Parts: sequence; structure tokens; C-alpha cells
Amino acid sequence: MGHMIKPARGVIWYPISESLWIAVAPRRASPEKCLLLQHNEVGLLDRLNNPSGVPEQDLAPGEIDIVKKWLAPEFSILEEVKVHKPLNPHVNLARSVFQEYRSAKELEGRHDLASYHLTEINDPVRQFEEVEMTVSHLYREPHPALEGKNYGARFARVLIEDKAVGKGFRILELGCGTGIFGREFLREVKNAAPDIYKSLDYTFFDISPVLTKSQEQINKEHGKIMSFQTGDAYIHSFPDAGYDLIITNEMIADLPVVKLTKGDRSQSGPAADGWDMGKRLGLDFSDAPPQFLFNLGALRLLINISQTLRPGGKAYIVEYGSPFGYPKAHHVTNHIEYSIHFGHMLTAAESLGLEANLLGLHEFLGFLGDVKVLDDLTHSAIFGHLLPFLGITRESSKVYTEDMLLKALPQVAQKVKNLSFVSLKSLGGILYPNGFYALRLVKKRRKSF
Ligand SMILES: C[S@@+](CC[C@H](N)C(=O)[O-])C[C@H]1O[C@@H](n2cnc3c(N)ncnc32)[C@H](O)[C@@H]1O
Repeated sequence: MGHMIKPARGVIWYPISESLWIAVAPRRASPEKCLLLQHNEVGLLDRLNNPSGVPEQDLAPGEIDIVKKWLAPEFSILEEVKVHKPLNPHVNLARSVFQEYRSAKELEGRHDLASYHLTEINDPVRQFEEVEMTVSHLYREPHPALEGKNYGARFARVLIEDKAVGKGFRILELGCGTGIFGREFLREVKNAAPDIYKSLDYTFFDISPVLTKSQEQINKEHGKIMSFQTGDAYIHSFPDAGYDLIITNEMIADLPVVKLTKGDRSQSGPAADGWDMGKRLGLDFSDAPPQFLFNLGALRLLINISQTLRPGGKAYIVEYGSPFGYPKAHHVTNHIEYSIHFGHMLTAAESLGLEANLLGLHEFLGFLGDVKVLDDLTHSAIFGHLLPFLGITRESSKVYTEDMLLKALPQVAQKVKNLSFVSLKSLGGILYPNGFYALRLVKKRRKSF
């Protein structure tokens, strides 16, 4: 059987005039390089627009020449579909182990992002639009995948159901970004339980003075119940401990890691701190590679949380990582973050007298994976190429359903051909979000570390 030819995922076609179309392919083409199609080629595109593709033998020789031109690497507007090869799980595992190995090789000693947060974050909106997208920022507006709630509101719902929010509660949020998460969390508590809302005492705690200012500005409506503190959460000691609830969403990957080498138990320096903490928390390194990274900061924060919660108090820690994998470096635009070894967090929590449960974030918040959203490559074709080409600026960091896209870009979206919407769960990464976990902790008894 001949090849099937179908439009490449993520390529979009947009009419500039009746006879001229622009084809936009993400990642390959810069806006200036978008391909302009002549009128006679548009009919061919229409035929190829069949999502299941077109058999190659159904194309006339002249059309095949046109398709070949389109297949040139700088445009790549079509793809040939031959055999679909699912990725072998062993390949994924090998890749993951290799990333752990490379991360440990690249780092000397210890990596600390404190000075980055203190000095290099200047623009709160840009930070989360361009530098480091978070799941909570992506879902900051009501979304069908969260049953019409936004991320912060949905989080509040889950915690209210878990009886983690109650009358007179003192709540501490660590690492609060723009402040939108806290604002939406509190709005939802106000809606669902106005009496509880009035009685709360909510503290925003962040290392970045610029982000603290944004948190203050964004949360004016909660004026009576909120306060703000600036500091480094993992070394800060909260003198008036006794919080009923601590939340930290997508912050702990920013905390320091240290490189450890098996068989080299130095008595001083950052590695010694790591070995010492591992021992005191009862962690097992028998499955570690010869050199590996250790989440020194996240574990230190866990100790801090255990000392800052009142007995019976709860904490929720959300971050990306793995239940068994060692930290991997993630290069995020202008800094490096490290994934979390949640197996170590669970063992450490147990040693610290905390009851601990780990859930996938999509399970914790109940993301609806069947909701259809804009394919990630199509998203990048529109927001990274077509809009700049048309001179339109628009916030890109959202997970668009068809309705949302039509509302946000009515003129453009109606004209674009071949928009591709796929089920959210097929996308994964930060969108679904795969690889993100929610660690739920309950302080059971007093235990000093
Ligand atoms: C990736 S952002 C997440 C922001 C927000 N929670 C969200 O979900 O969008 C990490 C946040 O943690 C803060 N942060 C990083 N390291 C910190 C530390 N050591 N102590 C306190 N805050 C920290 C950053 O300034 C930033 O506000």
C-alpha cells in the first residue's frame, strides 16, 4: 500500500486574501518564513485537510511535486504517515536514567536559586507568561477540564472536602508567584463558606520582593484576612508555629540540590549536609547511581513544615518529579530547576511524624482528560508564529478549548483552517499535567528533629 499523506499536526492555514494563504508550522519557521500558498494550491490543501489523510496514489503527479515542496525541512507543512511506532517503555526508562546521570555530572557541589529569585525576577507577568509556566498559571481562568473552576478554586474545593480549611484557621502559602493562586483559593472559600472565609488568617510567604508586591496588589480584595512575608522558606524559622494548613504549589523544585557520590562520605561541605540529612531521615540510597542529586532543600523544607504545623494540621505540596527517580535538571529559560524524588519525601515525612499520601496532580484535582483542547503544536503555530506575523499580541499561556479560542481570537480563529483539538490526556506534560504530584501531609504527633 502507498503512503498516506495528511496535514502535519500543528500546521495551520490562514487566508491573507482570497488567493493567498499562509501556512504556519511551529518550531521550524520564523514568522518571516511562513509559507504563502498560491490559489491553485489551496484546493489541494482542502483535500489533504481530511484528518485521516489521503492515499498518495490519489494525488496527481503535479500535486505530488507541490507536496514535495511543502515537505522541505524549513516548512514541513505535511507529514507522511507510514507506521505508527509507539515508544518502547524501556526507551523512556533509559532516557530518564540518562537524564539523572547527566544532571549529576553537570553539577558540582550544590545549586541554590535564592539569588536568582532575589535579583532576577523583575516582571511578574512575564515571569509566568514567558520564563516559567506553571500549571496553576495555565489554568488561572475557569476551565472545562476542572469542571468550570480555575486551578486555585479547584484546589480550595478539594481542601474544603478534605476538611483542611476550617473556622479560625491559620493558613500559610509558600512560594506564591503572581498571587493569583491565593486570590482564587480565597475567593472560592468565600463563595463556599463565607463564615469560614471571614475567620481565616492567610499568610503569603515568598522569597522574591517583586513577586510579593504583585501578591499584595492582586489580593487587595482579601485585605482583612491576609498578610505578607518575604524570606527563604527552607531556612526561615516561623516563630509562631501552629499553622493549621500549609500550601506550596510548584515551588520546591526551586530549592537547593546537592551532588552526592556513593562511597565518598565527606565530613564537611554541601555533600556532608546531604549525607547527614539522608541518614537522619532514614532515606535509602541503595538504588542510586554512583553519582546522583539529592533534594536537600525540599527535604529541609519538609522538616520546616513539620515544625510549623500544629498537630492535626495539614500540608499540600505540589511539584513535578517521580515516586522513585532521582532529581533531574530542567533548564527553564534563564535558570535550572530540579525534579523531586517523592519516594524520599514520603520516607522523610514518615520519619518526621507526618502521615503522607502521594497522588498524581490530575487525580488530586480531578482533571477531566477527555476535554478537547488545542493541540500543543497548533497552539505554538498560532501563538508563536501566526499572531506575531499578523502583529497581534495575546497572552499565550492557556489551554484553549474551541470555545475559549473563538472567544479570545474571534477574527483569527474563524479564518484558520485545520485547527486541531485533541483530548487533554493525550497531551501530557504540563498541560494534563503528567509527572506532577500532590503530596498530602497530616501532622500526627509531635516529634522534634
Ligand atoms: C514556580 S513559582 C510558582 C508560583 C505559584 N505557586 C504558582 O503555582 O504559579 C515558584 C515561587 O516560589 C518562590 N520561591 C522560590 N524559592 C523560594 C524560597 N526558597 N522561599 C520562598 N519562596 C520561594 C518564587 O519566588 C515563586 O513565587
